Formats: sequence, C-alpha cells, structure tokens
Amino acid sequence: MKNKILITSALPYANGKVHIGHLAGAYLPADIYTRFQRRKGRDAIHICGTDENGVPITISAEKQGVSPKEIVDRYYKIIKESFEGFGISFDNFSRTSLPAHYKLAQEFFLKLHKKGYISSKTEEQFYCPNCKRFLPDRYVEGTCPYCGYTSARGDQCEKCGRWLEPTMLINPKCKICGSTPILRETKHWYFNLDVFQKRLQEWISEKEHWRDNVKQFVQGWFQEGLRPRAITRDLSWGVPVPLKEARNKVLYVWFDAPIGYISSTIEWAKNKGEPEKWKDYWYSKDTKLVHFIGKDNIIFHAVVWPAILMGMEDYILPDDIPANEFLNMEGGKISTSRNWAVWLDEYLRDFPPDYMRYYLTIIAPETKDSDFKWKEFQERVNTELINAFGNFVNRVLTFVKNYMGNKIPYPESLTENSQQIFMQIEETVDKIDKLIESFQMRKAIKSFMDLADMGNRYYDISAPWKMLKENPENAGNTIYTCCVLIDALADIAEPFIPFSAKRIKKMLGLPFRKWDEIKIPQIKGGEELNRIEILYKKIEDGEIETQIKKLGKEEEMEQKKEYVSIQDFKKMGLRTAKIIGIERVENADKLYKLQIDLGDEKRTLVAGLVKHYTEDELLGKTIVVITNLEPAIIRGIKSEGMLLAASSGEIVSILQPDKDVPSGSEVS
Ligand code: MF3
Ligand code: ZN
Repeated sequence: MKNKILITSALPYANGKVHIGHLAGAYLPADIYTRFQRRKGRDAIHICGTDENGVPITISAEKQGVSPKEIVDRYYKIIKESFEGFGISFDNFSRTSLPAHYKLAQEFFLKLHKKGYISSKTEEQFYCPNCKRFLPDRYVEGTCPYCGYTSARGDQCEKCGRWLEPTMLINPKCKICGSTPILRETKHWYFNLDVFQKRLQEWISEKEHWRDNVKQFVQGWFQEGLRPRAITRDLSWGVPVPLKEARNKVLYVWFDAPIGYISSTIEWAKNKGEPEKWKDYWYSKDTKLVHFIGKDNIIFHAVVWPAILMGMEDYILPDDIPANEFLNMEGGKISTSRNWAVWLDEYLRDFPPDYMRYYLTIIAPETKDSDFKWKEFQERVNTELINAFGNFVNRVLTFVKNYMGNKIPYPESLTENSQQIFMQIEETVDKIDKLIESFQMRKAIKSFMDLADMGNRYYDISAPWKMLKENPENAGNTIYTCCVLIDALADIAEPFIPFSAKRIKKMLGLPFRKWDEIKIPQIKGGEELNRIEILYKKIEDGEIETQIKKLGKEEEMEQKKEYVSIQDFKKMGLRTAKIIGIERVENADKLYKLQIDLGDEKRTLVAGLVKHYTEDELLGKTIVVITNLEPAIIRGIKSEGMLLAASSGEIVSILQPDKDVPSGSEVS
C-alpha cells in the first residue's frame, strides 16, 4: 500500500460553464474519493484547474466576438465558484494560462525533443481559402470515418470517442464559414507514440484492476498500432512551441493540459511555502496517482499521457484511471449549444448541493451511461435522502430535546438489538471502505442509505415514545443507540454529502472521526445537544416543473449574446452598384425592377421602393447591394441581390457612398 495519493480530476476547458455531466463524470467521484482518503488519515491531495489553451478556447472567443483571454478569465471564475458551491474540495485549482505552466510545458517539449521522441514533418493540412487560415482540430467538422456521426470534430468524435485528425473526416467543412477546406503544406512536430507502444502494453497488462471500459478502449488502439501524432498547431493562443523554427505555432492543447496536473501541484507546494514538496508526489514511487476523467478522455490519459511521462523518466505513472461513462439528461445527450443541461451555478440558486451530490452518486454512470431525470431527482431525494435519512436524524434528535432534557441518555444495559446496530455500523464502514477503494461510489452510497433505513426501522419497532412511560430505561437505550448511529452516519456520509454531515455533527456537538474510529461509539451518554435544525426541505412539484421548463430554452442562457464574427460579416459580399435601368413591375403597386451595374457584371434586382422613390430619383444612383444572396423569383422576375436601406416607421432611406467609387467596390 502506497503512502501518498495524488488525485486529479480532468481540467475542464475554460470556455463555458460546468454542468451536471462534468460533476458526475469526474469531480464528484474524485471528491468522494479524496474526502474518504482524508478520513482514512492518508496523505491525499486533489489537484485540478482549468484547461485554458487551444482551439476550444479560440473558437468560443471567435463565436462571442471577444478575446480568448476574456473567455478564460470569465469561465475560470464561474467554474471555480461552481465547484466550491458543490463542496468539491480541491487542494489546488490552477489555470493552464499561467506563466509557470507555459514554462513547464515547454520544458517537457524540449526534453522529449532532445531525446528524439519528437520529430518534425511537413505535411498537408486543411486550410480554409475563405478564412485564409489553417484549420486545426475543431475548426473542421465532418463525418466520423469510424462511426458515421455527422458532426464529428477534427480532433475527436464525440459519439464514439475516437481520436481523429481533421483530414480523416468525410465531407470536411470549415467550422467558421462552412466552406470546404483545401490542403496546404505546413510543418509540424510529432510525438512518436509508436516508440512507446511496447512499454505501454506491458505496463497496462499489469493493471488488472482497471475498469473494463478503459482497458478495452486502449486495446483497440494497440491493435491498430500507435502512430506519431502532431503536437503543434498553427494558432496564436496557447503555449508557444519553444523552437526558433516554430514561430506562430503553439503546443497542441492535449499535449500541455495534463502537464497542468503537475504545474498545479507545483503551485500548491509554493502556496504552502514548501516549494519542493510537489516532488514528494510526482517523483515518488510511494505515491498512488489516480486520474478521474470522463470516458471521452480515456485515450489521452491511458495512452498519450503515460507515454509522455515515460519519455520524461523521473515521473510516476498513473495507478488508476477510473473513467466514468456519460450522464444523459431526460433521455437525451447533454448539449451545451441546445441548453440541454443543468448548469451548476444555476442549480445552486435553487437547491442545496447535497441533493445533487446524493442523486448523482446513486445513479453514477460507472459501468454504463445513466440518465438524469428531474422527476426522479425529486422522488429519490424526497423519499431516500429526506424521508429515510433526514427524518430519522430529526426525529431522534427532536426526541432528545423534547423528552430527554436535550441530553443524550446513558446506556443502562444495551440490548441485543443495540449490539446488532453497532455490528451493522462496523460492517458498513468496512464495506464502504472496499467500495470506495475500488471506485464503486454508487454501491457505497447505497450501503450508507441501507444503514439509515435500518436505523429508521429500529426506531419504529422500538417505539421509544411508547416506552417512555412503560419502560424509560428501554426508551433511553433506544435513543442512545440511535444517537450513536446518527453520529456514525454523519461520519460515513461526509465524503458523499459533506454539507449535511457537517450540520449533523454541529447539532450533536461532536467532531468528525477517522474512518476506522467510526466503528467505536464516541458517545458516552450525557452529552448535551446544540440547537436542532431541520436538515432538509422537501422538493415541491412546482420547483421541478420550473426546472423542466428551462430545459432546451436558449434565451435562458446567460452570457450567450449573439455576436457575429468578422468572418460572418465578410461572408455577406457587400458591394456598390449603379442603377442603370428602372421600370415598374406589372400588377404590383410597390415593386420596381432595377438593372444594376457591378462593374464586372450586370444584374436584375426587384425592390419594393415605389412608395418611397420615383424612377427619376433612383436612376443613376450608386447603392449598396448584398451580392451573394440566394436569387429569388418575385412576380416571375429573378431578383439577384438586395439593396441596403435604413428604415424607421414610414421613412425609407437608401444607403449611398458619400464619395464617388467605382461600381462593384467592396463594402466592409
Ligand atoms: N479539457 C479537457 C476536456 O474537458 C480535459 C483535459 S484533462 C487534462 O475534455 F488532462 F488534459 F488535463
Ligand atoms: Zn472558413
């Protein structure tokens, strides 16, 4: 058994808010695991941060018409606060846009380069003739060659999880303007993954305890044979490639991002005032490294990243990669663009974090995809968390307050039943220990609920409210036993629902204990309770209906202003044109048929200007026309464009250049 545990959760891209899919995929199981390990008294740290480089960021920035820096600053803050609100207890939450991260990522590159694991190659890549730029990764979309998914991204297919190159896509299109890209030569640097195949295979063959989904995914890759992969990109945002001949190129985001686990640990050590301490983790064979991720990240964590670490030597390799499957939402795939998600920051305005933590753990997508349903959320929180657990706690503690002078009674002589309860506590503590160690959070939280259920039944059967007069000693024993159980439940609950656990401990006036100490009652009898508060409030139907109504509604999304990019604007093909002929359209009181001259061609345009201009006023005018509009047939006449005019109420005023320009001049 290793002494130190280094836990990481995938670094979320700082290009959007985080939702329940993120939470269920990595951060919540990672937090449960970390909290549990701390309870066990182990030296465990949980490291994370935001992934702020690469194409995912620049695309969002372009879409919203702001700088990449603005995007990452905005979402770093929202993401960090969302996780805090859910009690995800990171030891450090960093960002990969920090100088220290750049420096480390560049060091990695240089060392691997020097050792011959990185080589350069000039190859053809997609280039958009319209946008006049290379199209790395997600700048290209098309059909996945493996599964046929039609909106596969140039870096990875979201459907089947395969790692792609843009040129592998069938029917590729430029993400920005939709045109078909052409091939152009550019030089890039490749990480020679093939060199590591044998070592990786040997290494993974020893990982018998890994989840099947992870092992199978990786086997598929080995069978195909690993190939060198490009780790540089033509982009102006990210970690610059530290070579003279690589100007204007940055590192591929999946090369630098996992290095963020290390730079974040370095930052943590620095903040602690022990700047060398990170080495105790990353360089020590005595450290167990665990990466919590969602299944779309498997290839990077189980193959590419370990190869990078092998190439660097010195560093430890991952011990386990408990990748979760996907969480769906009301039967559909979670989708940011369709607003088909529950956003963490919005959720926190309406419900306590523990409700979600409970529900997402009891339906955790550990071995297969699972489905979040608002109705089921309400149902399970109300009946399980609130009725079974919360009410048990509140019934017992209120009883102590009302009938026992607010003091936990002394156990006079414990009955068989009490002994039984104590044994159940012991068993549950051991059982959950094994389950969490093997990343089975779902079963673990179920065991916790079973214990709470048992407490409820015991309380009902023992009926202390009846015994109070008939047999006060018996009533006292029951209440004592129940209090011991509640104290244990709070300890056991802490990794899963830490906010509830803390409130219970506060009412009891007792401290949290180390995991194995939970087996022995710390309550002796005679302890006075603090103020009792109601642990939970039931979720009403109306609250759930409000949530369901929000789903899929775009306008509810904050920060999602509809910006138009420069590229969008340029697409419009605005040019000046001179009106060289004009006549009325027969049987139409509003329409003129105009002949216009665009310099290199003449066209016909139909315009509804009769009420606003006479024929003489229009003839000879230079106007502004959208030239690449789909032609329309109006009253049997083919109209090839539209002219620009300002209008307000009854006034319509044609736009004209205020100096002479040749017909067909570009308007921008
Ligand atoms: N940002 C990536 C994603 O959201 C995950 C990066 S994990 C890391 O899919 F290892 F690269 F950090
Ligand atoms: Zn384009």
